[in-house]
Amino acid sequence: MLVLGIETSCDETGIALYDSKKGLLSHRLFSQIDLHVDYGGVVPELASRDHILKTLPLIDEVLLDASTLMAEVEAIAYTAGPGLVGALMVGASIAQSLAFSLDLPIIGVHHMEGHLLAPMLESTPPEFPFVGLLVSGGHTQLVSVKGYGDYEILGESVDDAAGEAFDKAAKMLGLDYPGGPHIAKLANNARTSGIAEPVRFPRPMTDRPGLDFSFSGLKTYTLNTVQKHKVDGALAEDIRASIALAFENAVVDTLRIKCQRALKQTGFKTLVIAGGVSANVHLREILEAMVKPLGTEVFYARPEFCTDNGAMIAYAGCQRLLAGERSGLSIQVRPKWPISELSKLEGISF
Ligand code: KG4
Ligand code: ZN
Repeated sequence: MLVLGIETSCDETGIALYDSKKGLLSHRLFSQIDLHVDYGGVVPELASRDHILKTLPLIDEVLLDASTLMAEVEAIAYTAGPGLVGALMVGASIAQSLAFSLDLPIIGVHHMEGHLLAPMLESTPPEFPFVGLLVSGGHTQLVSVKGYGDYEILGESVDDAAGEAFDKAAKMLGLDYPGGPHIAKLANNARTSGIAEPVRFPRPMTDRPGLDFSFSGLKTYTLNTVQKHKVDGALAEDIRASIALAFENAVVDTLRIKCQRALKQTGFKTLVIAGGVSANVHLREILEAMVKPLGTEVFYARPEFCTDNGAMIAYAGCQRLLAGERSGLSIQVRPKWPISELSKLEGISF
C-alpha cells in the first residue's frame, strides 16, 4: 500500500511517501524555525498560515522525488492530534480534500504514535515488546508497548515536558528556540574542554518510587544559577557552557534512572527512545551505557526522524490502514489526545 503522510501538528510541515512493501520512498520537511525565532516560541497563527503555504508544494516535491503520480497514491495519513488546533486543521483539511476528490481511504494518525514508531523506519527496527520513552516538546512519557496500538502509560511528566524544559532553560541562557540542540552543543563544548558544572542540579522525583517525571523545578534551579553568575547583567561564555552542562546532565540522568526502573518493572529487554529530545547524543550514549550490562538494547530513529516529520505519520498510518482502520470524512482533529486511547491492531506482523 502506497501512503502519503502529512504532518502539520506544530511548526514543521512534513510530507512523505511510504510503501508497505518498498519502505520509505521520499520525504520532505519544511521547518518554520526562522518564522518563530524572534518570538522565542511557536506562534500558533503564524504556524497555521505557513502550513497552508507549504503543504501542497511539498506534496508535489515528494511525488516528484519518488517519480510517482498522485494517481498512484493508495491512501492518505495525516496527523489528527495532539498538537496546535489551527495547524492540525490545515493538514486535516488538505488530507480530507485530497482523499475525497481522489476517492482514497484516509486515516487520522496520533502524532506521538508516529514518534514512537519512527525507529521502525530504520534498517534494524526494534521488536515488540519494548519500553518506549517519548521525549518531545510537549510530552515526556514512559510507555509499555506490546504491539501496534497496545500502549500503556507507565509514567509521565506532572508538569513540563523534557523538550519544553530544554527550550525554557535555553531561553534563560540567551539561546534561540528550539533550545535543545543549542544546549546540547554548549554542554558538549564544556565536556570536551574540561569545563565543570557550576553546581550539581537536582534529579527531580528520583528519590521516590514511581515512573513519573517533573521538570519545572529544574527551570527555577537554572534561573537561580544564571542570576547568581551574571556579571553586569551578562554571563561569561564558559559559565553559560557549564550551566548548559549541568542542566543536560540533570535531565539525561533523570531519564536514565526512570528508564532503568521501567525496564526492571516490565522485564522487557528493549528500550526505544523517540521524539525530539531522543536526538540528544548525550542521552543516547548514557542510555546505551546503562543497558549494556543488562543485556538490553536501545533503539532510536535517525536524527531527522526524531523531531517532527511526515515519514513517521505515513508509517504509523500505513499500519492502521493495513489493519483495516479508516477515518470518516469529517474534518476532525484532537489537540489533546491520550495515546492510551488508541486501539490495538490485532494480528499484523511486518
Ligand atoms: O518531537 P518534536 O520535534 O516536537 C514535538 O512533538 O514537540 O520535539 C521538539 C523538542 C524541542 O523541545 C527541542 O528543543 C527538542 O525536541 N530537541 C532536543 C534536541 N533536538 C530537539 N532536545 C535536546 N537535545 C537535542 N539534540
Ligand atoms: Zn513531535
